[in-house]
Amino acid sequence: MDAKKRILELTEILNEASRRYYVLDDPYITDQEYDKYMRELILLETKYPEYAFPDSPTQRVGGAAVDKFAKVTHKIPMLSLSNVFNEEEIKDFALKIEKEGITPQFVCEQKIDGLSISLIYENGLLVQGITRGDGIVGEDVTNNVKTIKSIPLKLKENISLEVRGEVFMHKKTLAKLNKEREKEGLPVLANVRNAAAGSLRQLDSKVASQRQLDVFIYYLMEPEKFGIKTHYEAINYLKKLGFKTMEDTKLVYNVQGVLDYIKEETLKRDKLTYEIDGVVIKHNIFREQQEIGYTAKYPKWATAYKFPAIEVLTKLKDIIFTVGRTGRITPNAVLEPVILMGSTISRATLHNADYVISKNLKIGDIVSIKKAGDVIPAVTGAIISRRTGQEKDFQMISNCPMCDAPLIKKESQVDYFCPNESCPARKINGLIHYVSRDAMNIEGLGEEIVEELYNLGFVKRIADFYDLKTKKEQLLEFDGYGEQSINKILENIEASKQSGLARVLYAIGIPGIGSKTAKVLAHRFSNIDYLMKASIEDLENIPDIGETLATNIYNYFLEHQDFIEELKNIGINMQETGSIRKQNDLITNKKFVITGTIAGYSRNEIKEVLESYDGLVSESVSKNTDVVIVGDNPGSKYDKAISLNIEIWNSEKIKEIMADLAK
Ligand code: IVH
Repeated sequence: MDAKKRILELTEILNEASRRYYVLDDPYITDQEYDKYMRELILLETKYPEYAFPDSPTQRVGGAAVDKFAKVTHKIPMLSLSNVFNEEEIKDFALKIEKEGITPQFVCEQKIDGLSISLIYENGLLVQGITRGDGIVGEDVTNNVKTIKSIPLKLKENISLEVRGEVFMHKKTLAKLNKEREKEGLPVLANVRNAAAGSLRQLDSKVASQRQLDVFIYYLMEPEKFGIKTHYEAINYLKKLGFKTMEDTKLVYNVQGVLDYIKEETLKRDKLTYEIDGVVIKHNIFREQQEIGYTAKYPKWATAYKFPAIEVLTKLKDIIFTVGRTGRITPNAVLEPVILMGSTISRATLHNADYVISKNLKIGDIVSIKKAGDVIPAVTGAIISRRTGQEKDFQMISNCPMCDAPLIKKESQVDYFCPNESCPARKINGLIHYVSRDAMNIEGLGEEIVEELYNLGFVKRIADFYDLKTKKEQLLEFDGYGEQSINKILENIEASKQSGLARVLYAIGIPGIGSKTAKVLAHRFSNIDYLMKASIEDLENIPDIGETLATNIYNYFLEHQDFIEELKNIGINMQETGSIRKQNDLITNKKFVITGTIAGYSRNEIKEVLESYDGLVSESVSKNTDVVIVGDNPGSKYDKAISLNIEIWNSEKIKEIMADLAK
């Protein structure tokens, strides 16, 4: 089939698949099929860039990073909404409309907790995405907006229009992101709104694309151009054009209808996958909206009912410090137990000393507690008016609470660390981490048991877990260990040897390696020997891995060769299991260097294809290089390859391989 036609076909299949999945929540092809078509399209577009369509789904992964965003003046200012907090204020709002001689007719919608965005389409194609900014001037975040899968790149009709809506992050996405960030020593994001805003304003659209943002469109600009008379109709029209709109939208005719809607949404709130912080009430008829008018900041025909914040007060009894496996010191609030949204809370993390200071917390304070992202309890502040004068100032400690080593603080970091590698707290937490669910997932070895095994001297280091089977008799002598449960634990420890490389890499606690990076490394290298052979440069070539992380990984393996050897001898499988990556004997896990030009292909094109089969492409030839690809006018790399006796592929050979793979 000719390439141009196939590119069109793939673009259409993939865009429709995205719409079905992300907009309609009704997938009709499998992820595998999607990936297969996507790979085919990427290959064809690299070969024939002139045929790529402006709505190609390949843009969704993000492109080159920018230094800053261009400022754009909104054609029509982006207004905000006035707030109401109770029944009386809602009645007032309705009354003001009636006073204009207008019978209220309200569309009720969820108030999504995110940030607003304006999208401009020309002849059916998305051309610009602008943040609200100060309402008058926003920032051009088009590249990031294109990575949001529920935003159509092309509409069902070739028309020009501007729409507005809310970009947001799902609760689960934030929880996952924060878990990763915590493991990687980065500050957690306070709530879905900050997370969405931070993600949409990433200068690197590749990062934005990983943040899995979503959108609801709730506003069509200049509806009269389309002969649309009401907001309710406008929403249906937006839906028909391919936009993702809110589901619970309801048309009501009086204040009671609004109150009923608020009640329904209050009950639903917790079950939603995204956060809503209230309900928006909009007068339905456009012509009448203009009569009701605007203030400088708000439309008078709409308002936002804000849910009361779910917060409780309790006493901050103490602030205690814990030591993580990396040595990081975390202050924790010890609270008078209190019930919040169904669970009893007696502890809450205070993150770091700066957080405590910024919230001006004193021991003995009455503090307010809120559930951030509906899961993790957060101390949001002290009630100053309830101070008695008996409160004690917060004091950051200077020595490790466990081993007494003087704490250190790296410049530009907020955290204090215990630098003592043999600090028992660090050791125990390292062992707990090793057996934890995302790591080796050894069931039966909970935090307390691991701590006890450490204290009793059975397990001082990771390898000791695997030696426990020889100490069964001794273990049985201690209270609380029944034969059956010990057998089960020993079985689980044995079984963990087959967890696979990704889990091992995460479990051993390489500084900066969260479970996501561990998976990336395992996919890329598939075997620990290849990974240990990689240079800093090889590692830096991997997407998502920067210089610091690459250096950490490299140094870690340099310093821990004996430890890795020991794990291997124990029989821990250090291969990646269940990888579904594409494999090719000529390419997979080999290290390539390209020199000279190859007619018909750019160097990047070849690199991408090799990488898609898990080949590793680096800049300089070394004894670890497997193949040097030599084109016309090669540089000194060619000579070096010859002198090191490294396999060479000439232009003919690489062209043949590229053509084969494109089939
Ligand atoms: S309509 C002129 N509808 O809330 C009317 N806004 O507090 C403009 N928001 O800036 C907004 N959900 O970012 C509208 N269903 C909804 C909304 C919504 C969330 C946000 C929006 C706005 C802010 C005002």
